[in-house]
Amino acid sequence: METPRKLYIETYGCQMNFSDSQIVGSIMTDHNFETTENIAEADLIFVNTCSIRDHAEKRVRARLQEFKKYKKIKPGLIIGVLGCMAERLKSQLIEEEKMVDLIVGPDAYRDLPRLLTVAEGGQKAINVILSADETYADINPVRLDSSGISAFISIMRGCENFCSYCVVPFTRGKERSRDPETIVNEAKDLFSNGYREVTLLGQNVNSYKSESGLGFAQLMERVAQIDPGLRVRFATSHPKDLSDDLLHTISAYPNICRSIHLPVQSGSDRILKLMNRKYDRQWYMDRIEAIKKILPDSAISTDIIAGFSSETDQDHEDTLGLMRWVGYDYAFMFKYSERPGTTAEKKYKDDIPETVKSERLKQIIDLQQELSYKSNLADVGKTFEVLVERYSKKSGKELAGRNSQNKVIVFPKNDFKPGDYVNVQVTSCTTATLKGMVIQS
Ligand code: SAH
Ligand code: SF4
Ligand code: F3S
Repeated sequence: METPRKLYIETYGCQMNFSDSQIVGSIMTDHNFETTENIAEADLIFVNTCSIRDHAEKRVRARLQEFKKYKKIKPGLIIGVLGCMAERLKSQLIEEEKMVDLIVGPDAYRDLPRLLTVAEGGQKAINVILSADETYADINPVRLDSSGISAFISIMRGCENFCSYCVVPFTRGKERSRDPETIVNEAKDLFSNGYREVTLLGQNVNSYKSESGLGFAQLMERVAQIDPGLRVRFATSHPKDLSDDLLHTISAYPNICRSIHLPVQSGSDRILKLMNRKYDRQWYMDRIEAIKKILPDSAISTDIIAGFSSETDQDHEDTLGLMRWVGYDYAFMFKYSERPGTTAEKKYKDDIPETVKSERLKQIIDLQQELSYKSNLADVGKTFEVLVERYSKKSGKELAGRNSQNKVIVFPKNDFKPGDYVNVQVTSCTTATLKGMVIQS
């Protein structure tokens, strides 16, 4: 057999995209490529892209400019753009960015080897067909730069919620659930290879439904039953579908993590309606109360958008007020970015001045810093079971891992190593991390 050629993949965007890059890695290694982390030695460069905000696309475009220099050094080098930007811009991207040879959308990765042959023949190659049933269920992902402890498993693809600001339903297509047997088998394989945590991924995991009628709670139960030593996480839940049943299932399994990511986006009913989120403030608060009642030790995190179309100071205050009421442990916070083709772009004006968006985002971030610090302070003195993931970045003498609530805890190494479960008592904290000492059990 010929010596394998080298593939370099760079990934932007959400965890689903990182998971897709591993599927791409697997497809290409079956076609005599091996992955490399050294771009200079690559024969093929893939950039798996994100369109969620304008900024994400700009970063990729700037990166493509840098790739030009590698093409000068190595004339046969092929550059492919994969993922959501490929899907959104299609052939327009090849016209605008001449260094690109290949454009491949998220449902067309099985076609990559053929498209590569076309590109090597000197033609531009493109496949952006979206599928109603592709889930890559049978493809065993190549675990790129993984810790060997924690892995993502995609359980569904696409999204049909059509939040008015969001590009995902256009770039990822119809919602479809992956066959449960292949999910459980993947998790079993990971566990027997030393992994101790899996995160089940989808844009809206609670609407998972297999062809046989298995729902998300039942799927998660099956994964949790593989072994009590395998932690199970999931992302992302949509507030409209977060049922008490699901919360009760979580509570029945100590290895399903006490950490719920429940994106709220805004605390104002008027804005939630314009966003087409399909719940109101009261409904959201009711779901938070259910979490606090059924899973009292659960962390709660969220996503927030500042400066959506027509957002008033009062709407913004409503968001801050809701954040305080929930007391989020963690949040991802963004300035609204109008996306071409979405309902918001067609129907509403992007009328909040940049300076106002920035000021509101700053207030949201400042408040969240306060809330995160408060949440961390409340953990000082408590003991948690930590799954060790890595040596601490700052010092080889310390280990870092996470507790069930998804908080990072750093502690002295002793004789422990990645993959171990260790009881750690929290002794101090910053806004971002907890520090602790090992409690012998
Ligand atoms: N499916 C997930 C989120 C996917 S995108 C969910 O529904 O919760 C991740 C986050 O990006 C969203 O929750 C939202 O907060 C943010 N986002 C999406 N579109 C955006 C836009 N046009 N401008 C700014 N932020 C956006
Ligand atoms: Fe986008 Fe809404 Fe779907 Fe999330 S649920 S991916 S925000 S359309
Ligand atoms: Fe971005 Fe596509 Fe994910 S737009 S957030 S990479 S689904």
